[in-house]
Amino acid sequence: MKVQGKDYKTLWLEGLSVVMIDQNRLPFSFELKRLETCAQTCQAIRDMTVRGAGGVGVAAAFAMAQAAFEASGAEGLSRARALVEGTRPTAQNLFHATARVFEAALRSPQDALAEALAIADEDARMSQSIGELAQELIPREARVLTHCNAGWLAFTDHGTALAPIYRAQALGKNPFVYVDETRPRGQGARLTAWELGQQGVPHQLIADNAAALLMAQGLVDLVIVGADRVAANGDVANKIGTLEKALAAKYFGIPFYVAAPTSTLDMLCPDGKAIPIEYRSEDELLWQSGPDADGQWHTVRVAAPGTPALNPAFDVTPAALVTAIITEKGIFAPQQMDQAAR
Ligand code: MRU
Repeated sequence: MKVQGKDYKTLWLEGLSVVMIDQNRLPFSFELKRLETCAQTCQAIRDMTVRGAGGVGVAAAFAMAQAAFEASGAEGLSRARALVEGTRPTAQNLFHATARVFEAALRSPQDALAEALAIADEDARMSQSIGELAQELIPREARVLTHCNAGWLAFTDHGTALAPIYRAQALGKNPFVYVDETRPRGQGARLTAWELGQQGVPHQLIADNAAALLMAQGLVDLVIVGADRVAANGDVANKIGTLEKALAAKYFGIPFYVAAPTSTLDMLCPDGKAIPIEYRSEDELLWQSGPDADGQWHTVRVAAPGTPALNPAFDVTPAALVTAIITEKGIFAPQQMDQAAR
């Protein structure tokens, strides 16, 4: 996708260095980060310099390729794999990537590198197909609500929930997007709003708790979100707050779509209860950071000092609340995940 007229991917390899857009600095400044080792790339996944299901999957693939050149033997590779898999537990793409690159690395470091690059390519291609295949669900003047960021920044390119919007716009439709802020880290306010602005898609930021009112007022035609993991029964783990939107959409009879590549499917996970939920630092709730009007960066308290906080990063939306799951292979009912996985 373009940033100020120049084509970018979210992350890529230069030799054995991983280069990524620093998503902790966006949208206030556009900076690239270069990670030279597997350990550095793991830290970037953990601190969310790179994020989103596809983004962490590709970063994990690159980290494993770096490890293949650093570590010797199956034991060293297994240690590296454990390090990568310990970064973020919910996104299935991460585990999909480590398994594939680990197998390749057992053959040779060159094979590991080729496999990691293949995963990055596939990630972008699957996102593009999702955008195309979703068009039958997107009316000409669609008013869409989305949560968190499942745009191109959450993958190597195009995105999942936002790919249908970008494609609709390219086809001459007029989509409008309501963007949930997505507390506590503000992926909607910071990343989705920035992405849509860069691409010239009309949108409005809303507080997380405003969505149900807009639905009740008839202002939302459909909801599209991404996914971090889809269980075999069609239950969907996604950014905390997704479940509330799905419940409200069901009540008001609004279609609730999940856009995700099949690399997000976990057929070994029978249902949502088996999906591991990441809990992050309470500081994400208690403090907020950003620049003031002069560009000076500050971190400020937003809760009473001494308040304990609980910060689950994801929730699980039961399959019964999901209208359809849009994959690169087609549009499936949540009960059809076995077909999507074939
Ligand atoms: O914690 P993040 O920002 O990595 O979480 C990402 C999400 O949960 C997004 O909502 C997205 O839908 C999944 S990534 C496409």
